Amino acid sequence: MKQFVSLLSVGVLAVLMFFAPGENAFASEGTATKAQKQVLNIAHRGASGYAPENTMAAFEKAVEMKADMFELDVQMSKDGELVVIHDTTVDRTTDGTGSVKDLTLEEMKSLDAGSWFSEAFADETIPTLGEVLDEYKGKSGILIELKAPSLYPGIEQKVADELTAHHLDKPENEKIIVQSFDHESVQKFHDILPEVPVGVLLGYNPEGISDEQLESFKKYADYVNPSKSMIDASLIERIHDFNMLTHPWTVRDRESANFLLEVGADGIITDYPDYVDPRP
Ligand code: G3P
Ligand code: CA
Repeated sequence: MKQFVSLLSVGVLAVLMFFAPGENAFASEGTATKAQKQVLNIAHRGASGYAPENTMAAFEKAVEMKADMFELDVQMSKDGELVVIHDTTVDRTTDGTGSVKDLTLEEMKSLDAGSWFSEAFADETIPTLGEVLDEYKGKSGILIELKAPSLYPGIEQKVADELTAHHLDKPENEKIIVQSFDHESVQKFHDILPEVPVGVLLGYNPEGISDEQLESFKKYADYVNPSKSMIDASLIERIHDFNMLTHPWTVRDRESANFLLEVGADGIITDYPDYVDPRP
């Protein structure tokens, strides 16, 4: 009888183990989900590890390298044109000097924006946002950073107008996101074009990101994009708990790319799109 009871117990246990998802079942499901999760590969200022940042050559390289999106920085010229450049002066990335806000578009267009990187790119010029949208709408996702917007009153409306002129004010199939370190500017843009997703950029802060901050971002933002130095699995989980996604920046080595894939980032902003390889 004893033997029968213990045989029965083993049988019951076996049946339970078969039907109940054990720890391993969850573990392998978790792995599968991670492997299948689509992580956006976002080329920072274009594929700026391989071509001069924020030029058509860098955006073309991003598309060639099959990045899902490219990031760019937008500012305004003296005569009110939207130009794609990172620094608030032209000194580092062109053969000219002076502040972006003090130069006309014509003056900026006469500059060489490629030779500082390599002579092979001597023909590159500072693009306008309109030129980039003309060329890449429908070919690539575009992550637009409003750079130093407090220097350019009205830039939010201008960017909104440019997106609207390109029928990108209600993006459906196209992936367009607008972001800034200036969160007031992000809110201003969001009020003008509420259907375009927006993100808040955050630099490193040793105090981390509080729930109060996340609660307030959630009122208008879809993305919280901190420096990669702030990221761990728990921050990503908290951002997701507040129903937002995260695209940390800026990856310049394979180890950081692998780390961000492992902890579940939704997108990775990188100078080297080939470093982001989500395959298991
Ligand atoms: O997209 C994030 C990243 O571009 C922010 O830093 O200085 O490269 O504009 P920065
Ligand atoms: Ca940027």
